[in-house]
Amino acid sequence: MAEAGDSGGGGGGEAGPGSLPLPCLFPPGSTATPRHLPAPCAPQRCRDPFVRRRAGRGDEEEDEEEEEKVVSAETSLLNKLIRTSLVESSHAVEILQRDPNSPLYSIRTFEELPLKKELLQGIYMMGFNRPSKIQETALPMMLAYPPQNLIAQSQSGTGKTAAFVLAMLSRVNATEKYPQCLCLAPTYELALQIGCVIEAIGRFCADIKVTYAVRGNRVPQGTVLKEQIVIGTPGTMLDWCFKRKVVDVKKITLFVLDEADIMIDTQGLSFQSIRIQRALPKSCQMLLFSATFKSTVREFAGQIVSNPIMIKLREDELTLSNIRQYYFVCRSREEKYEALCNIYGSITIGQAMIFCQTRRSADWLAVAMTQDGHQVAILTAELTVVQRANVIQRFRSGKEKVLIATNVCARGIDVQQVTIVVNFSLPTNQQGEPDFETYLHRIGRTGRFGKNGIAFSMLQSQDVALVEMIEEHFQTRIKRLDPGDMEEIEKLEN
Ligand SMILES: Nc1ncnc2c1ncn2[C@@H]1O[C@H](COP(=O)(O)OP(=O)(O)OP(=O)(O)O)[C@@H](O)[C@H]1O
Ligand SMILES: [Mg+2]
Repeated sequence: MAEAGDSGGGGGGEAGPGSLPLPCLFPPGSTATPRHLPAPCAPQRCRDPFVRRRAGRGDEEEDEEEEEKVVSAETSLLNKLIRTSLVESSHAVEILQRDPNSPLYSIRTFEELPLKKELLQGIYMMGFNRPSKIQETALPMMLAYPPQNLIAQSQSGTGKTAAFVLAMLSRVNATEKYPQCLCLAPTYELALQIGCVIEAIGRFCADIKVTYAVRGNRVPQGTVLKEQIVIGTPGTMLDWCFKRKVVDVKKITLFVLDEADIMIDTQGLSFQSIRIQRALPKSCQMLLFSATFKSTVREFAGQIVSNPIMIKLREDELTLSNIRQYYFVCRSREEKYEALCNIYGSITIGQAMIFCQTRRSADWLAVAMTQDGHQVAILTAELTVVQRANVIQRFRSGKEKVLIATNVCARGIDVQQVTIVVNFSLPTNQQGEPDFETYLHRIGRTGRFGKNGIAFSMLQSQDVALVEMIEEHFQTRIKRLDPGDMEEIEKLEN
């Protein structure tokens, strides 16, 4: 993925952190360099009546004491209610979690996993009822003593983030005020998203703080970081560790690589990530996560991490049955666009992500859709961090229903309302072969945690062979549709 979110070196030339528009990242009006997250960030947290009530307490001590009692009594009741209503509203997920063939299947509850009570509370507030397979399998391994390295694979949208976030929050020593855990992600947006999950699940771990090594968040040399968890992109993290020396790599006890296959196998990203990884103490626990690890990359991962436990999936287990896959054969870009309009005319779409191979085709498509009255956002690596943060924030909150993106958004981004993904062209490598991993990550932006999703690929006739190769590679079925057959497209809704 050439369009990584980090140009390295702490990124010069961007606006200061105070002007980054993500509320979860930096407090409004802040001018100082914000290195931890004092404000609630995840949307669930803001809607949470329990937290609001606590935040709204008066100053008087007696009131506070009284209130505290009420609050703790209410907490368990609220937890119960929230959990009950979720069980009802997420019936489909519940069924999947009882199906041994589903990646969401679990035999144990969160309470049976080795998690402290503050984390269980955080999990309940997230609305999680049962662990997914990867959470249930990986957590006991990650938390065992002595610490063990892990290379773990699990399908897109199956909760890998919460799995490693729970490990991070369990492992750090809250009484020690210095960085102990580093987590790297390939893009700016993904680093922020993971940070929000840490904050949300860790909301009851009052003494654990997070800071962001991302472009735009500058730390002056000589700064002493007090936060135990540092999440970031490789270039800025490298800068913080070796140039600014605000992170003492020798004190790091846990190192997490999300999207680990590209982090160790893509030019630029791999140089930076591996440089950091090599500087860590031998005893530092390493956790590598991704939905994809092609065999050469898995082998390489096994070499850079000593004695790892491997959680593997076969190629034919990677595609999810809740994401239905289709393709259209079109004669031109304009015909692809017509097919896209037909999809819009035929089925109800929550939100959509449309992937283009280049920024130019993304721009072309954005203009065409805007002229036809669609509200679209566009996200490519060429935007500034402020623009990128703005775009993803607006899309998450549903202000724009369509996000046109390049591969910069192919991995990790979690927007539950995305019901369709469109490959305006198929992802290919420099040899013109299908980029299997990117295809899988792109379609995985829909169908999150058991939800239903549809993936459409727009092809020209010479690309049909590519689809066949993808089908063969993943042992999956991608069904052909006639781009003009509205009736057939309409049927997909059922
Ligand atoms: N145990 C759970 N119960 C219910 N929802 C969950 C649970 N664990 C995670 N989720 C939700 O599932 C969604 C997908 O999780 P996440 O982003 O971690 O997937 P992922 O495995 O990292 O996928 P990707 O490979 O695309 O990065 C998130 O919205 C998350 O809140
Ligand atoms: Mg992920």
